[in-house]
Amino acid sequence: MSADLPHLALRIDGARLLDRLQALAQIGAYQGPNGEPGCSRLALTDADRAGRDLVVSFMREQGLQIRIDAIGNVLAIRPDHRGRVEQPVLAGSHIDTVRTGGRYDGNLGVLAGLSAIEAVARAGIATRRPLAVAFFTNEEGARFSPDMLGSLVYAGGLPLDEAYGIRGIDGATVGDELRRIGYAGSAACPGPVPAAYVELHIEQGPVLEAAGLRIGAVTGVQGISWQEITITGQSNHAGTTPMALRHDAGYAAARVATFVRELACELGPPQVGTVGQITLFPGLVNVIPATAKLTVDLRHTDEQSLQQAEARLREFAARLAQQEGVQITSRSLARFAPVAFDPQMIALIESTAQRLGASTQRMPSGAGHDAQMMARLCPAGMIFTPSQRGISHNPAECTAPDDLILGANILLQVMLTLAQSEALLPSP
Ligand code: GLV
Ligand code: MN
Ligand code: MN
Repeated sequence: MSADLPHLALRIDGARLLDRLQALAQIGAYQGPNGEPGCSRLALTDADRAGRDLVVSFMREQGLQIRIDAIGNVLAIRPDHRGRVEQPVLAGSHIDTVRTGGRYDGNLGVLAGLSAIEAVARAGIATRRPLAVAFFTNEEGARFSPDMLGSLVYAGGLPLDEAYGIRGIDGATVGDELRRIGYAGSAACPGPVPAAYVELHIEQGPVLEAAGLRIGAVTGVQGISWQEITITGQSNHAGTTPMALRHDAGYAAARVATFVRELACELGPPQVGTVGQITLFPGLVNVIPATAKLTVDLRHTDEQSLQQAEARLREFAARLAQQEGVQITSRSLARFAPVAFDPQMIALIESTAQRLGASTQRMPSGAGHDAQMMARLCPAGMIFTPSQRGISHNPAECTAPDDLILGANILLQVMLTLAQSEALLPSP
């Protein structure tokens, strides 16, 4: 994708972006163990509502047209030179966080999108295509599975009534919680197809920092497999039951956790595997656990390899169930195949970053993102900025202010190029 950049000198208001990031991070703010400035805004909680209200107030301040859809995605549009709002060049991300989140995951892409549109408006540029920015509901999946729920429903990958019925970790449903916080909007799902979708995000890994580079042009997102495994054994007295006669669900859970780790190491990079949660019942010092529930997160950039890892885990669980005299069942929480982004979008992001003087690298994303759902609808791409020490989903998550601003300026130029170019996208 070759592209003219007629407004190459245009910049976002960096101080304003940092102020808004700071203001949003105050909602759900908490301190990590060493005083790190974390952020905790699980999807569709009161904190999420307050965060949404703040970002919507920013959208209103900028005079954008706001559309809230039935799954709670919020889209703000600046019409094109003829006043049309259809087929915008859309920036977006999410503002929900994991319970122990940081300040930038998701929030950066949304607030930078707003900054980009603001810069274009301030310069008085009438664009050939509308510009828009969105935040999508429940990207994290930390309260409701699957992750990327809002963008999945937007893209038509899950019917709305099924999404409404999803029960979260606290027993509440998506539909009830959306209505409770006042974000079950009236715009239809699936949503209208944008001309293109661009997401700026922190890398959330160590690659850019280790290479001394400032921008990643993201080539795609690896496949994700989440499952909940339930192990049913028999509770009994911890002092009187001989080891050979136990049906210990806790022990079996520990074996699964160990297997996931060993499997990922044996298969080698880019295979990763995580057991992020284990709950034992009844959870008492002197009772052999009757049941265990654990989550398994497996990811790989290659679909066949991911399927192989899933099969190995299934075989292991079957053997373990027999050996230990326990029952093991599994329920899928999320399953998404790897996604490759549009080659022209990758090239545009890379060349734009280079024209702004940034050192770049093409790289896959280890984390899931709304862009992988939007890629089902339109050309989609992502811009990564470095994460200090590669830390994310952690209150210590940090990206240097200069990198945040550089990423936002690249987003601005990419959006503007897509909105103005006759060559890159079909005529509006
Ligand atoms: C979601 O953001 C994930 O990658 O876990
Ligand atoms: Mn994110
Ligand atoms: Mn995240």
